[in-house]
Amino acid sequence: MDRLEVGRLTEVMSEHPILVTGATGKSGRRVVRQLRDKGLPVRAASRTGACVFDWRDRRTWDTALEGVRSVYLVQLDGTKLVRPFLERAVRHGVRRVVLASGRGIDDPHYVKDSGGVLDGIRDSEAAVRESGLEWTISRPGWFAQNFSEGFFADAVRSGELRLPAGDGAASFVDAEDIAAVLTDGRHAGETYEVSGPRAVTLAEAVATISEATGRAIRYVPLSAEAYVAELVRQGWPPADARAFADVIEPLREGRDAHVSDGVLRALGRPARTFAEFAASTAAQGGWPA
Ligand SMILES: NC(=O)c1ccc[n+]([C@@H]2O[C@H](COP(=O)([O-])OP(=O)(O)OC[C@H]3O[C@@H](n4cnc5c(N)ncnc54)[C@H](OP(=O)(O)O)[C@@H]3O)[C@@H](O)[C@H]2O)c1
Repeated sequence: MDRLEVGRLTEVMSEHPILVTGATGKSGRRVVRQLRDKGLPVRAASRTGACVFDWRDRRTWDTALEGVRSVYLVQLDGTKLVRPFLERAVRHGVRRVVLASGRGIDDPHYVKDSGGVLDGIRDSEAAVRESGLEWTISRPGWFAQNFSEGFFADAVRSGELRLPAGDGAASFVDAEDIAAVLTDGRHAGETYEVSGPRAVTLAEAVATISEATGRAIRYVPLSAEAYVAELVRQGWPPADARAFADVIEPLREGRDAHVSDGVLRALGRPARTFAEFAASTAAQGGWPA
């Protein structure tokens, strides 16, 4: 897209609220902040957001879409609701969609998809490409923020991260970079895979967090069976415990260790390192106490 088109798009976007779904989550919250930092009007939507929006309650969709020309979609995992949502968005006059997708969705061996998450994301991507709207897709790998806000935050707080991930590594990506790619506004028709600049093992990750926070945190590798048994002892239903162990398997197998160049391609700068993520989270008081 040339400079004139970017200008036109910014103008169109700034006259109308920009809808962001999943606006209270790890990626959506940062998309909202980064758009507002650019001076753009944002409608932050989720079940507990300023705009009450529930993917499962289609009556909330029209209010969210009223007057909107541009949408940033964080989907509801395990569903195929993006397609009907985009059909409705087109009827409301929406012209542009940006989708937060995921890396690995084209690889049938990436993960056992028991919750239908990858199937849902694949359908969302197809719906976006077939929508007739101007579109951009970002496919991030494992978020660095899983350690500070997500799956691993409780373990980081307790000082011991116990996982069936062996000495596997991943190129964890800072959600600030994910949001920066999503909100850049120049990339019509592009799909960007985004990751951090190098693979980091779980032992390295917790050592880096220890350094940034001054707290002792250790990583304890478990077998998948021992991990499932631990979760069941904590009250998890066995099927859920098994499914969660399956989610960790790509980490153990290093299936997310490769580095993608999406941040560099989209933004012309390198992705933030895990150490930069850990230090900036500490500076903002963002580590779980
Ligand atoms: N985490 C990772 O490492 C990772 C890696 C690659 C891809 N992804 C994908 O990236 C996407 C975003 O992940 P994330 O980590 O940013 O999510 P997240 O932090 O778990 O946030 C989920 C968001 O969805 C909203 N939400 C939940 N149920 C909803 C419903 N029924 N209707 C409307 N909103 C609902 C939540 O807000 P309310 O509770 O207020 O409704 C929240 O804002 C997901 O599709 C995920 O699969 C994640």
